[in-house]
Amino acid sequence: MLVSGQSYRTIWMPDDATVRIIDQRRLPWSFDLLDLRTVAEVAHAIQDMAVRGAGLIGATAGFGMALAARESTDEAHLARLARSLIETRPTAVNLSWAVNRQLTAIREAGFPNRIRTARAEAQRIADEDAAMCAAIGQHGLAIIQEIAARKPGQVVNILTHCNAGWLAFVDHGSATSPIYAAHAAGIPVHVWVDETRPRSQGARLTAWELGQQGVPHTIIADNTGGHLMQHGLVDLVITGADRVTSHGDAANKIGTYLKALAAKDNGVPFYIALPTSTLDLTLGDGVKEIPIEQRGGDEVTHLEGIASDGSVQTVRIVPEGSRAVNYGFDVTPARLITGWITERGITTNTNQHQSRSASIFA
Ligand code: MRU
Repeated sequence: MLVSGQSYRTIWMPDDATVRIIDQRRLPWSFDLLDLRTVAEVAHAIQDMAVRGAGLIGATAGFGMALAARESTDEAHLARLARSLIETRPTAVNLSWAVNRQLTAIREAGFPNRIRTARAEAQRIADEDAAMCAAIGQHGLAIIQEIAARKPGQVVNILTHCNAGWLAFVDHGSATSPIYAAHAAGIPVHVWVDETRPRSQGARLTAWELGQQGVPHTIIADNTGGHLMQHGLVDLVITGADRVTSHGDAANKIGTYLKALAAKDNGVPFYIALPTSTLDLTLGDGVKEIPIEQRGGDEVTHLEGIASDGSVQTVRIVPEGSRAVNYGFDVTPARLITGWITERGITTNTNQHQSRSASIFA
């Protein structure tokens, strides 16, 4: 996607020994690239959220395995490096999916061929991620076109939570991809951007990337969506997902479940956009079975921002000594989901009171 008019992906290898990323800890205040040269640096970048978002975590792990192939002296060493990547974050399934895909490719090619194999496979994982997201955009566009046709000449208002934009993938994004496609097709769209505390990925990242692409948007405090829906100001909710089970239950950034409840109560369609690399068909009941990441309470008790002198500062916003708990994700049960948009098409939830009944889950 475009940054100041120049085209970027979120991750690439400028040479065989370097993984280059956009350092998302610095956005929206500063657009910085960061080079990673060891598996430990890649693991730290994932854990510290220099890269984040399910698809990008998967692509980063794929590139991390390309470095692991170079670092490893034997198969046991490679397995240890693979584990160090998988253990960085628990909820997004794309991480273990990409690492296991690399291990399979290396096993099939033979350990002596690991470096060339892992490098090529990493590129394939990244290219496929971008292609899947582009296809999600085209399928999701049909939903927005349908809404636009029902209100000619009026703006289509779409609410999204967190950042499932191109920054969360290699390119295009999942939830934002249909929005970019609609904007490019000339449909007047406006996006309600949930702030998404505690790390504010909506306010910091989604707003920044929508702004870069010229898509009209408004940042709202996380609790605002229900009110907007009650007053007819939301036509559609699209969010991403970090893991979707065989029941269709979707883990996504904390607070997504509450948006789905409000959407259900107000008859607003609620879609989950995901590449099929985010499906985990080994799990059924997402509420019980999806591992939910807990992060440090400091993300809740403190806020980062830019001061008038341009310096980035962190300030405490709670009483000294108050404890905070920080669940990173929640699970939206399938019964609250209107449909799932993947690169294969739209899977409509035909029985929202029970569970999904759909092709991507077959
Ligand atoms: O903690 P993050 O920023 O890695 O969380 C991931 C997300 O941004 C969201 O949950 C997103 O909607 C799904 S990832 C495409």
